[in-house]
Amino acid sequence: MSANSEWPKKRQEAAAYIRSKCDVVPQIGLILGSGLGALADEVSGATVIPYNDIPNMPVSTVEGHSGEFVIGELEGKKVVAMKGRVHFYEGYTMQEVAFPTWVMRTLGTTHLIVTCAAGGTNRSFTPGDLMIIVDHINWMFNNPLIGPNDDELGPRFPSMGLAYPWELVEVAQKAAESVGIKVQRGVYIGTTGPCFTARAESQIYRLLRGDAVGMSTVPEVIAATHAGMKTLGIAAITDVATDPKAGPRGILTHEEVLRVANLIKPKFIKLMKAIIRMMEV
Ligand code: HPA
Repeated sequence: MSANSEWPKKRQEAAAYIRSKCDVVPQIGLILGSGLGALADEVSGATVIPYNDIPNMPVSTVEGHSGEFVIGELEGKKVVAMKGRVHFYEGYTMQEVAFPTWVMRTLGTTHLIVTCAAGGTNRSFTPGDLMIIVDHINWMFNNPLIGPNDDELGPRFPSMGLAYPWELVEVAQKAAESVGIKVQRGVYIGTTGPCFTARAESQIYRLLRGDAVGMSTVPEVIAATHAGMKTLGIAAITDVATDPKAGPRGILTHEEVLRVANLIKPKFIKLMKAIIRMMEV
């Protein structure tokens, strides 16, 4: 109880530190997932702040996730990019996973684009696809909003009907068309990880009408939506879970996820820049 009620103070301390280093008020927050951090290198006039230097910030332990906030301009918008994020499976609490999102909101950020690598459960997907997240299923059976409500951020009982607002899905779709990139749309299932999906689980996810499965995104989107931020989710489909009846599935590794994420990177960067350009903030 006491630890939970410290969050408002902790996010204020982190935001105060960031403000002492950089006076930009970012309009759009960007959470960059596995292998997708390169977008932060495109930010101009960047102030780079390592998570290590920020009071109360959790620091990632996973390969492919360096940890720094990059604040500056991208496609005419003021952005704060998170190069690297922490995950529930690393042993952090859901509140720690959500913390950077709370900090961005405290800085004044109103829009959030959350990105991730994900496994496709929709049979029509192929590795290398990009998917606009239209909704999620919280299959983590935990929630960053458990504990005392941070009334300054949002209500006790926020509606997740407000997550992934349709106008942002439309902006992403139009942005994709404007740069000639084909995108999928679908529902993201957030799991705890760190296990990649078992074959029978993939079947369950299909029954649940999930199109992609991953180990992130949901906590941050819940936190952002609670705090009144407009959220957009983009998943890079790095692998597809095959039908168990079709024979043994390839053994998925983190290296393979990073390899495919790396191949998707140029397309991902192009799409994200078009979205940021076209987003009204
Ligand atoms: N399952 C869970 N998370 C993932 C996967 C997957 O197949 N691929 C990339 N992230």
